[in-house]
Amino acid sequence: MADSQFWQEKHDDYAARDWSKKPSIFVEEIVEYFPAGSRILELGCGQGQDGLWLAGARGFHVIATDFEESALYISRQRKLEQDVQNILFESLNLDELFVYDDEKFDVVYSHLALHYFDTETTKQVFNEIYRVLKPGGIVAFLVNSVNDPEYNSGTKLEGDYFETEGTKKRYFSAESVKKFAEKFDVIICDEKGETYKDIDKGVHHLVRFVGKKPA
Ligand SMILES: C[S@@+](CC[C@H](N)C(=O)[O-])C[C@H]1O[C@@H](n2cnc3c(N)ncnc32)[C@H](O)[C@@H]1O
Repeated sequence: MADSQFWQEKHDDYAARDWSKKPSIFVEEIVEYFPAGSRILELGCGQGQDGLWLAGARGFHVIATDFEESALYISRQRKLEQDVQNILFESLNLDELFVYDDEKFDVVYSHLALHYFDTETTKQVFNEIYRVLKPGGIVAFLVNSVNDPEYNSGTKLEGDYFETEGTKKRYFSAESVKKFAEKFDVIICDEKGETYKDIDKGVHHLVRFVGKKPA
């Protein structure tokens, strides 16, 4: 199955789930680190629930991105339904260099979207996050863990990176996240992340990272 077909099917499924209509556990846990009035770039926004909450309930200025048009369509519909003003949904493929200027954002945020890439691309994504953040800016993301039940399923492509069920997935530990994010000063780096989607399956160990670009 091509990556795009995989994601279209996922988004059709996610759109019907209650958890895709409310802010994630992670964003509510870490929003206190986002300076008031921040301009936020969200990566892999899916159905837009976190970006819409950051813009609507918390008053941030958000550019929320995804590479999947069906996800952006649902997100834009929700923006209209919820009448949220200060958010734009834009197409961005994380495989490619970001289209945004250097030091444009106060915060780069991502919920479960930075774990689809090989080592070289993952390094590039982190370099791009660093480039588009202002000095002193915040990066916050949640990613899959090497302790996930699916770890080791499918075909191993490289260390902690597998091809399975039509997509490719990387699994992180707190240590491996720190290496990819080594240019940032660490505020939080642990394996205590939870999601509404998987909390009932006993998953309480996703990797949470909040860091600061040195000023
Ligand atoms: C697990 S979903 C998370 C979506 C949303 N952040 C959430 O938590 O519900 C992963 C998201 O990453 C997006 N994605 C996957 N590969 C991508 C890529 N190369 N560039 C941009 N987005 C990508 C998918 O379309 C999907 O929306």
